[in-house]
Amino acid sequence: MFLSFPLYLPIFLLLLISFPTTSVTPTNQQLSYTMQASEAETLFTIMETISSDRKWRASHPDPCKPGSTWHGLVCKPGKTDNQFHVFRLDFGSPPNPTCKNTAKFPSQIFELPFLQSVFFFNCFTHATTSISFPPNKTSTSSLQQLSLISNPSLIGPIPPQISSLKSLQILTLSQNRLNRGIPTDLFSLNSLVHLDLSYNMLTGIIPFQMGNLKNLVGLDLSYNFLTGTIPSTIGHLALLQKLDLSSNSFIGRIPDTIENLQTLVFIALSNNRFRGEFPRGLTKLVNLQYFIMDDNPMFINLATEFGHLVKLQELRLANSGYSGSIPSSFSQLKNLSTLSLQSNRLSGEIPAGLSTLPHIYHLNLSRNLLGGVIPFNSSFLKRLGKNLDLSGNSGLCLNPSEAYGVKIGANVCETSKNGSLVLPLKNSQSPCMLCQSSRLWFGTLCALVLHCILFSG
Ligand SMILES: *[C@@H]1O[C@H](CO)[C@@H](O)[C@H](O)[C@H]1NC(C)=O
Ligand SMILES: *[C@@H]1O[C@H](CO)[C@@H](O)[C@H](O)[C@H]1NC(C)=O
Ligand SMILES: *[C@@H]1O[C@H](CO)[C@@H](O)[C@H](O)[C@H]1NC(C)=O
Ligand SMILES: *[C@@H]1O[C@H](CO)[C@@H](O)[C@H](O)[C@H]1NC(C)=O
Ligand SMILES: *[C@@H]1O[C@H](CO)[C@@H](O)[C@H](O)[C@H]1NC(C)=O
Repeated sequence: MFLSFPLYLPIFLLLLISFPTTSVTPTNQQLSYTMQASEAETLFTIMETISSDRKWRASHPDPCKPGSTWHGLVCKPGKTDNQFHVFRLDFGSPPNPTCKNTAKFPSQIFELPFLQSVFFFNCFTHATTSISFPPNKTSTSSLQQLSLISNPSLIGPIPPQISSLKSLQILTLSQNRLNRGIPTDLFSLNSLVHLDLSYNMLTGIIPFQMGNLKNLVGLDLSYNFLTGTIPSTIGHLALLQKLDLSSNSFIGRIPDTIENLQTLVFIALSNNRFRGEFPRGLTKLVNLQYFIMDDNPMFINLATEFGHLVKLQELRLANSGYSGSIPSSFSQLKNLSTLSLQSNRLSGEIPAGLSTLPHIYHLNLSRNLLGGVIPFNSSFLKRLGKNLDLSGNSGLCLNPSEAYGVKIGANVCETSKNGSLVLPLKNSQSPCMLCQSSRLWFGTLCALVLHCILFSG
């Protein structure tokens, strides 16, 4: 017995830890829901800074007590103490507390040590205010998610002190009026999983330190005034699934290191000043479903390699100066639903294989230099309907046998003396301009007219 006592000691201690002084431990009903006075005071200060919906102190003297919280406040018990703590705060649109016109950004949110998520949606709309941090304090914040969305009077820079939020996993600062450069310190937040700074007025470059964000799954910097090249360190973001850099002023090539991002599903680079060749390892991006890169001064041929990205659902390369022909390899993209190649300088014939794409739904080849007989039959033309646009290619013509009752903005071919289909000599869109808006009977009439024209000469 005596000898075995030490064996029981650890279990005894364990019991002590798990059920400390059972007689004093309150049951669920008895738990004291009071907060630390300092934490409650910080919470009330934040509420009074933001919202005049209520007299917060008077109406909620014990704000974390179950049944006493308001929509937009979530409290949870601390793991190491018996007190409740502010865990999540939401502001903006009802039922969450609404923001008064004089609301200013409350830097006190970074002084709530247990706060994990903060949302300000459509909150700072009148008085200009900036993101700020408490002065001269080493941050004890355990914030994991900070979302400031659609706050038109939130201006100024992203302060470098943002790097003190070491636990941050989701940082969404979208649709505000933040300006200046992205602070380099931000890229020390290597817990970040999602970074969204879209729709602001940010300037400057993306620093090479972006490669530190090795846990990043989503990166959205679209709709800012960012410049410079994509740093080659982007290749270190091995978990990245979504990359959106649209509508900035980025220059240069897409770096070759992008081939390392083999989990990439979505890439959008539209409306920048990218130019030059596509990255050599493009074919390695086997998980890509969306490649969206309209409106760049590329002025090269289209890359045959796109044909290897068999998961592609959308391929958008409009208005970017591409020349040469449409690679026939595009016909291998069996999951493609949208192909946008309009407003380039593409020439040659439309690859017949495009008509075999089973899911194609939106096909815009308008405003190019394409020629020859359109390789689509009437069932294909009807299936796509107005989502097929071949207009503005003066060299294209449609086989008359497929032309009844369809509108695709192209001429109908004529049959030459030797029996091959050729572009009409005169720009004879006129008979079928009428059928374009017509029903089938009118189309038949037009075909008769066409027949007369063809065989009267
Ligand atoms: C913060 O520190 C600076 C110098 O590091 C000092 O000038 C300033 O007074 C301090 N502010 C507060 C509020 O303590
Ligand atoms: C095509 O899409 C379907 C459904 O979205 C998916 O099940 C299939 O795996 C995809 N095919 C390829 C080659 O990715
Ligand atoms: C139209 O073309 C598609 C693909 O080329 C083909 O599968 C289909 O059978 C054709 N339909 C008709 C009515 O010829
Ligand atoms: C095709 O692109 C042109 C030029 O951008 C645009 O005007 C037209 O509406 C598009 N057509 C379709 C069917 O999307
Ligand atoms: C038929 O004539 C056209 C010109 O009218 C010509 O371009 C084409 O090569 C000819 N085709 C054959 C098979 O002779």
